[in-house]
Amino acid sequence: MALTFDRHRRLRKSAAMRNLVRENHVRVEDLIYPLFVVEGTGIKNEIASMPGVYQLSLDMLAEEMKEIAELGIQSVLMFGVPSHKDACGTEAYNDEAITQQAIRQIKKDHPEMIVIADTCLCEYTDHGHCGVIHEGEVVNDETLELLGKTAVSQAKAGADIIAPSNMMDGFVIAIREALDEAGFQKIPIMSYAVKYASSFYGPFRDAAGSTPQFGDRKSYQMDPANAREGLREAASDVKEGADFLIVKPGLAFMDMVLRLRENFNLPIVAYNVSAEYSMVKAAAQNGWIDEERIVMETLVGFKRAGADLIITYHAKDVAKWLAR
Ligand code: PBG
Repeated sequence: MALTFDRHRRLRKSAAMRNLVRENHVRVEDLIYPLFVVEGTGIKNEIASMPGVYQLSLDMLAEEMKEIAELGIQSVLMFGVPSHKDACGTEAYNDEAITQQAIRQIKKDHPEMIVIADTCLCEYTDHGHCGVIHEGEVVNDETLELLGKTAVSQAKAGADIIAPSNMMDGFVIAIREALDEAGFQKIPIMSYAVKYASSFYGPFRDAAGSTPQFGDRKSYQMDPANAREGLREAASDVKEGADFLIVKPGLAFMDMVLRLRENFNLPIVAYNVSAEYSMVKAAAQNGWIDEERIVMETLVGFKRAGADLIITYHAKDVAKWLAR
């Protein structure tokens, strides 16, 4: 008697057949490229722990943006690294600060580019925490006011999307109200809804100069052990008016991408964070892995988990590979 079993290999037998049944695709439009801007001129500092990623002064940013636009990348995520930092992060909400200047420059040179502003205080405070400190603690409600001011200042500079990453309770509604009051009802909020207190941000903190000078971020970012808590955080952000939800770190916590996809109908964004990039780069430089295939597999994994968009330092490479 003949054995009965399923013939899955029928649909895998040629490249054309595999193309025909492919369920998920990475498009250049899915990619968001992070940028680090610094004061000064002629500065293009490679981040030692992130090969191929630079701190850029405005003139070098202009060159970089030309390349990004030519590659077909249509969204960038802005991080400003000011030289003056203080206890309250005043450069975050100074209309003339480096982040605001960079946003204005990009929107002038590339009006179609979607400029997303990371809205947090840690790159701007001298203590490196994401909010105002009282008696050794990051205080919630006073920080909200500063976040609102930061978002409005970024919107005034021309930011198309505000992306608050600071993990204070109520940050979405505080920013929504501040934006609306200032006449920016049309500016969406891309909330870092599910953001863990993760060691995967180490290289980013080299790039942004935002390592906390004391303690850690565990009283505001989430415990990496918790998934249900992530759903509660996301539900709050949705209720408060978020327009997009970010999961971060994306690769390490891809389960949360899937959980958000199953629970919410907003666009979901996976942040493929700095150490996830650095590990791939280090292994590739050693000749231990096939960088292109590893990266493409990772990104299609994000899509399969349910991500609509991917923030990734690999974006320029991916755009080149996709164009081939
Ligand atoms: C700002 C912020 C961080 C990252 C994005 N926005 C650092 C942090 O929370 O410590 C990390 C991104 C990365 O590692 O690539 N709060």
